[in-house]
Amino acid sequence: MAYLLSVENFAKIGEFIYRKSGIYLEEDKHYEKLAKYINTRALELEIDSFRKYFFKLRFDDKPGDEFQALMNAITVNETYFFRERDQFEVLVNKILPELHKTMPVDRPLRILSSPCSTGEEPYSMILHILEEGNLIEQRDIEVVGIDIDSTVIDKAKAAKYSSRSIHAIPKDILGRWFEKKGLAYELSEDLKGTVDLHVTNIFDKAQMRKLGKFDVIFSRNMLIYFDDASRKEVAMTFYDMLNPGGYVLLGHAEYMSRIVSIFNAKKVDNTLIYQKQ
Ligand SMILES: C[S@@+](CC[C@H](N)C(=O)[O-])C[C@H]1O[C@@H](n2cnc3c(N)ncnc32)[C@H](O)[C@@H]1O
Repeated sequence: MAYLLSVENFAKIGEFIYRKSGIYLEEDKHYEKLAKYINTRALELEIDSFRKYFFKLRFDDKPGDEFQALMNAITVNETYFFRERDQFEVLVNKILPELHKTMPVDRPLRILSSPCSTGEEPYSMILHILEEGNLIEQRDIEVVGIDIDSTVIDKAKAAKYSSRSIHAIPKDILGRWFEKKGLAYELSEDLKGTVDLHVTNIFDKAQMRKLGKFDVIFSRNMLIYFDDASRKEVAMTFYDMLNPGGYVLLGHAEYMSRIVSIFNAKKVDNTLIYQKQ
């Protein structure tokens, strides 16, 4: 198949994507996927060269639809409920009870899932909070989920999941909070809408600022797609968005100590958590 995207132009568009989203594409891993996407998109747009596509992307994309379509095509959205479950256990058994004692009771505790992909991560937080039972009786807790990919945010809002997505949820919890409809598992109506979901690019400072301050930020399995400079920028953004005493949790293959040294690392039940002083 003849691709409109040459190897030289891969470097150009790769640099553009990196600058806008932090996502670092490597030629040997990502050239073919991106080249196929650009061929398909060029057909839809009825244009015949990479130059015209790249021009549209950079200079003729006022509402940002073309960039959004590109992001939706290149992101890796793998996720499932109760992934790395020990972190949700630490959240409800250690972090939230501690924050409940130290943070003013007249305001909600706020948790950010950044990125949330199709919603399994923030809904897993809600399920753990509900199953724990005590905290929610005592104060308001808000959960916000963001992702750069608009298709995953739409799916998170619909909250209909495959058997692969729910496989790690214990049967009793599944039975209490999901309804099986055909092949899909649909989150109960009571829980839909309990996560405040937004299409947000983590590198867009204005969008991030609008979300407000948080007490806990989960950022799992996204930094692995970034390079060191972008990881550092994201870590500083989280630092600014956290209330003093708040925590960040990363994916199991991600370590804050390799990125910045401004957080205080603690090990709780074998889980690393990072506190803003
Ligand atoms: C592998 S998923 C991780 C989902 C979930 N946190 C988990 O661990 O199961 C990575 C997500 O990061 C999102 N992402 C990548 N770059 C982003 C950016 N600049 N801003 C916001 N989200 C981004 C992707 O769209 C994708 O849905």
